[in-house]
Amino acid sequence: MTEQEGAVIVDIPVEKRAGLEWILNESFEGWYLRHSKGTLRNVDVVRAAILLGKPVGLVMLKTIESNVGYVYYIAVAKAHRNHGIAKLLLEDALRHFKAAGVEEAFASVEEDNEPSEALFASEGFTRTSFGEVSKKHGNIHTLNMYRVMTVVPGEVLLHKAIA
Ligand SMILES: CC(C)(COP(=O)(O)OP(=O)(O)OC[C@H]1O[C@@H](n2cnc3c(N)ncnc32)[C@H](O)[C@@H]1OP(=O)(O)O)[C@@H](O)C(=O)NCCC(=O)NCCS
Repeated sequence: MTEQEGAVIVDIPVEKRAGLEWILNESFEGWYLRHSKGTLRNVDVVRAAILLGKPVGLVMLKTIESNVGYVYYIAVAKAHRNHGIAKLLLEDALRHFKAAGVEEAFASVEEDNEPSEALFASEGFTRTSFGEVSKKHGNIHTLNMYRVMTVVPGEVLLHKAIA
């Protein structure tokens, strides 16, 4: 059995989320680490991959509007990377969005974060831009979405239509 096959994805309620902070400590630094910890406490949905009773990865999700979903952070414990855990979490996130009526999903990644962009690309996300998003949503609306998504300089926005 591979790690991926042995992992289950569960919802983590607010009161249990502090138990996932160590994964963020291993995965992010500086501003991202602080922001990811704050988001962990406040975000709508946190799903974790559990392997042999222990969390090994997590994803944080938010529905920005009734039909737009955002993948805030996805992270896997160092010892469990490259075994398909993040892919499992992302597939679960897309199912979660679809069940909630979400029609398009966004994620932002640092321009040079190859593992992260490869992960999202493997699930059909492609690069988009402010100009492209505003063609559909309008300038003001897109500005608001960028603010909620906290897209910062040096990041690229990724997009996937959910059928
Ligand atoms: C990005 C991250 C979540 C990937 O987790 P993972 O469990 O190792 O990823 P998976 O094993 O599920 O791989 C998923 C896909 O991404 C690709 N990928 C993963 N790590 C990669 C790497 N280091 N280089 C290139 N591609 C990589 C895999 O090839 C796979 O694609 P495929 O299915 O087409 O083969 C993990 O490296 C991590 O936690 N990084 C630190 C936190 C971070 O940067 N998060 C993303 C921004 S929020």
